[in-house]
Amino acid sequence: MAPMNTALLVKIGGSLKGADELLDELAGYPGPLVLVHGGGPNIGEWLGKLGFETRFHQGLRVTPPEQMEVVEMVLSTLGKQLAYGLSQRGRPSLALTGRDCGLLEATPLSPEFGRVGEVSKVNARVLKNLLEDGLTPLVAPIGTDTEGALNINADTAAGSVAGALGLPIVFLTDVVGVLGDPKNPSSRFAQLTRTEAEKLIAKGIVSGGMIPKVQAALNALGNRAPWTAIAQGRKGILADVLAGQAGTRLEG
Ligand SMILES: Nc1ncnc2c1ncn2[C@@H]1O[C@H](COP(=O)(O)OP(=O)(O)OP(=O)(O)O)[C@@H](O)[C@H]1O
Ligand SMILES: [Mg+2]
Repeated sequence: MAPMNTALLVKIGGSLKGADELLDELAGYPGPLVLVHGGGPNIGEWLGKLGFETRFHQGLRVTPPEQMEVVEMVLSTLGKQLAYGLSQRGRPSLALTGRDCGLLEATPLSPEFGRVGEVSKVNARVLKNLLEDGLTPLVAPIGTDTEGALNINADTAAGSVAGALGLPIVFLTDVVGVLGDPKNPSSRFAQLTRTEAEKLIAKGIVSGGMIPKVQAALNALGNRAPWTAIAQGRKGILADVLAGQAGTRLEG
């Protein structure tokens, strides 16, 4: 059982419903937080309104250069809204993208994905300074290379930041954890080892959006993150995860 005020990195799923409840939960957490947020549904909605076609390849949003500006605008605005909601609830927060202060350096995956990147370096100093000042940073998963902005999967970015800061990471999503039968919430694994998690991916039991999440968790553990958990974004969830009473915990 971890102390109830442990410093945490929390990844907020873009598809989470009930933003108010989630903001209450995060604002009320008694320890330091670094937040990384996705924005899938909002990005899709705005690309659609602007007449762009959206295409996914291997679970990642293909991002042609002309769509990258929209992705950056939508994620930036979403981050500002979340930071405002938390600040208003008494947790002073500020929204950054991975491009601010060179926080996330990235390299493009391969040309078929367009401007999609993976993190090559995390400049964690700025986040440490903000935490020392009692502020809560929210990071949008956008990185930079010499050409400009790169779209990074939010789970992957969160895993990299947690690994670099040495923080435990909690992925808040729309399911109670990693399930043995994706249709049955009572099939949640309370714990998984690296080997077990890799087997679930190989067998196709872990699929879709759960794949980058599990991989990011394992990657964070391979760096400096002490433990990771995947859990449902609801009231009281962080205390329950720390008490070992909710979610799926992945350990080394
Ligand atoms: N074995 C599994 N156990 C649980 N969920 C699974 C499993 N395999 C696939 N999934 C899917 O993974 C989804 C969670 O990933 P998803 O990418 O949709 O959410 P998110 O990462 O929280 O949000 P976003 O990607 O918008 O930021 C679940 O809703 C479920 O449909
Ligand atoms: Mg996802």
